[in-house]
Amino acid sequence: MGQWVKVAAEGDCPVGKLKGVMAEGTPVVLANVDGTVCALMDRCSHEDYPLSDGELDGGDVVCIYHGARFDACSGARKSLPAIRPVRSFPVEIRDGDIYVDVG
Ligand code: FES
Repeated sequence: MGQWVKVAAEGDCPVGKLKGVMAEGTPVVLANVDGTVCALMDRCSHEDYPLSDGELDGGDVVCIYHGARFDACSGARKSLPAIRPVRSFPVEIRDGDIYVDVG
């Protein structure tokens, strides 16, 4: 069963930006890709550093620590040194607020 958690207002994550939030104890990085907000676990699959410290490059989250890239919406790994994907979460916008399903 899903567990939808309100994590931010829509305006807190502008186009082209990342924002780290907590959802019921789960670290989540929000990414606004051309107006679509996506959510990944805020832990790089390389060495567990926060992806929210990095940047959004088009549709990719780029880890600031060693340069791994992930698809911002699916969490798919796109470059070394990461070899595994990052978990992604469903996102909904309700009345101007961002909800993430971390269930
Ligand atoms: S911790 Fe992200 S690339 Fe190493």
